[in-house]
Amino acid sequence: MSDAPHVPLASLTGSADPAVGRAFSSLDPQSGLRRLAAAEDLLTPSTAGKSFHIETFGCQMNVHDSEKVAGVLLERGYSPVDDPLAADVIFYNTCSIREKAAQKVFSRLGQHRGPAGRGKIIGVLGCVAQQEGEEIFERAPWVSLVCGSASYRRLPDLLAELESGNRRVMGLDTDTDETFETEITRRDNPFRAYLTIIEGCDKACSYCVVPYTRGPERSRSSDSILREVRELASLGYSEIQLLGQTVNSYRDPSPRALSFADLLFAVAETPGIRRVRFTTSHPRDFGPDIVAAIDAHPSICDHVHLPVQSGSTSVLRRMLRTYTRDEYLEKIAMLRSARRPIAISTDIIVGFPGENANEFSETLSLLDLVQYDQIFSFKFSPRPHTPAEHMEDALSEEEKGSRLSELQERQREIQLRRNQSFAGHSFEVLVDNRGHKSGQWAGRTSSNRVVNFASPRPDLLGQYVQVRVTQAGPNSLLGDLV
Ligand code: SAH
Ligand code: SF4
Ligand code: F3S
Repeated sequence: MSDAPHVPLASLTGSADPAVGRAFSSLDPQSGLRRLAAAEDLLTPSTAGKSFHIETFGCQMNVHDSEKVAGVLLERGYSPVDDPLAADVIFYNTCSIREKAAQKVFSRLGQHRGPAGRGKIIGVLGCVAQQEGEEIFERAPWVSLVCGSASYRRLPDLLAELESGNRRVMGLDTDTDETFETEITRRDNPFRAYLTIIEGCDKACSYCVVPYTRGPERSRSSDSILREVRELASLGYSEIQLLGQTVNSYRDPSPRALSFADLLFAVAETPGIRRVRFTTSHPRDFGPDIVAAIDAHPSICDHVHLPVQSGSTSVLRRMLRTYTRDEYLEKIAMLRSARRPIAISTDIIVGFPGENANEFSETLSLLDLVQYDQIFSFKFSPRPHTPAEHMEDALSEEEKGSRLSELQERQREIQLRRNQSFAGHSFEVLVDNRGHKSGQWAGRTSSNRVVNFASPRPDLLGQYVQVRVTQAGPNSLLGDLV
């Protein structure tokens, strides 16, 4: 349980994550290095020896976009550095889902005011860029590039313009029907790879900026997705996470016309791929074929993130979510009828305009009914240009805060009980982190539960091991290596 999981702060830099270096040198000895060597051929006198730093805010799609943007910069001969003040190119890939997230970038930009930013390329990418556009140049005149995600294909051209002395460039079109793909993607994690299969969003939830900031829905062709999956498998990645704001609304534009469930199955069938995840699913497009695919293929992870937003049909109607409480509960029943248990997580907004005590209590009762494995919950934040911005917002911040705490406390108890029921069970864990102390490791089960365990073995990162659960907290499990 967390109040801001979609807004992790991920810094994409050269040596911040020691695993990144390994991704290039050991997991990727042939194709990866050959591609980097090819990138060096592109080095021009103007970019030789120059460095970049990207800081990323927001959802996994932003994190993955930054991996692709880093690829574009590597391809042009820039090398990554940790310190934003030491970099020649500094990009902030921004999020505007809630006001707090959107404000962060302006404090970051402040660091580069005056002499600190002179002679540098400072760029704002992502959802704040798309939303604020030219305004950013006015608030921070030392910024030289503003580009939204639907225009990233133009980045090499925009960079070339800046390198040749242009002061300011912008990419703010959202009417593209293409998706952003790159020759080089500088992935952060050496065993779990993100892969965006559908960009933008065609839903129109009344509180949400995403349709404005990421443009209309466009799906990538299944051939191109599967080609990249095979390549990732050959580079040593064993877990693929398919991404989209409404990932299950995927529509294959190629003649093969794979459904989302077919695509899941095809990715899972790829030799070398042991886990396939997908996020985020929209309840309206969630059909029995997806549950059947999970049942049919053990590599498709037994976890579904299915945001409900509210347990009250009247609030859902005001949110324009296109389903009722009962229709959502039918989707849950479908998931619960699967042959293998499927973990379910969700997103919830409290204090939507006009949410009364009764409507809020329906969200609490939904938690009791569904018994989620994890929730991500947020106070409603009015966003520019959205229909909910001007709805009467009767609740004070304090009231929203106390509803959020009540909701999180209720869920904490549910999670603790659920997690305790796993004591004595063994799970396969993909080890993806070291603990604070030596000999401590952490990883995730297929159902996306975090498991901590101890082992004296020297390097377990990236390995699949069996762990038996001995203790449980609300947010993680503790176990012993089997
Ligand atoms: N595409 C996903 C959600 C993307 S945004 C979906 O439809 O489920 C991630 C989460 O942020 C949303 O699920 C919602 O819970 C929250 N969120 C979006 N806009 C918000 C707003 N204006 N105020 C508070 N939370 C918001
Ligand atoms: Fe936003 Fe709704 Fe689209 Fe999700 S489905 S990104 S909440 S508009
Ligand atoms: Fe934020 Fe944009 Fe993602 S608003 S959540 S970065 S789509």
